[in-house]
Amino acid sequence: ATHIHDPALIKFKGKYYLFATHNNISISTAPSLKGPWARIGEVLKGGSIISNTGSVDPWAPDVHEVGGTFYLYYAVSTFGTRKSSIGVATSKSLAPGTWTDHGAVVTSGVTTNNPALRDTNAIDPNLFYDPTTRTATLQLGSFWSDIWQIPMETNLMSAAKTGVHLALDPVSPSPVEAAFLHRAANGWYYLYVSHGICCGYGTPPLPSPGKEY
Ligand SMILES: *[C@@H]1O[C@H](CO)[C@@H](O)[C@H](O)[C@H]1NC(C)=O
Repeated sequence: ATHIHDPALIKFKGKYYLFATHNNISISTAPSLKGPWARIGEVLKGGSIISNTGSVDPWAPDVHEVGGTFYLYYAVSTFGTRKSSIGVATSKSLAPGTWTDHGAVVTSGVTTNNPALRDTNAIDPNLFYDPTTRTATLQLGSFWSDIWQIPMETNLMSAAKTGVHLALDPVSPSPVEAAFLHRAANGWYYLYVSHGICCGYGTPPLPSPGKEY
């Protein structure tokens, strides 16, 4: 078994590639979704070039292929603070050793006029790319005002200085995280999020029915 956090999965040339939190974004591959999974390396060998956050442990990868290039977004943060950045690395093949780290796309916990970064925590990135308009948005956020959306520049490596609020639980501590935006065949957009407390589950007593994370 492979024990991982925050999986991001993509299929390329008949193989599944699984990216995960910790170990500088680990990369595992398998011939099928049932495995067997083999750990083959990491995306950010030596850590991220983002150094403004006091942490060297990148989190929460999100991977997409656009125009023959793979874009992998990740977060660098210090747990429980808003000192966070979302970075991006690119590769043509997904393999370890082929990734170029481009550093921070956005940073929270700094003075800014961008409403999407002023109050939130820049973790848990998710790119939404619309192939019909060739435009993209970055979904991000967590505790501290929850989920925001920022338009991306066409290079998919820098973000606009504006943004909109997508999801908010007004009850403190506003525990919405890990957004994934998806457009279904029926034309509707679906925003998937994680909602509840972080950490500590798995140890009895487990939450009662209806109170699970
Ligand atoms: C990740 O990178 C950091 C910073 O260079 C390094 O200290 C650490 O050993 C790396 N971790 C792994 C598992 O490669």
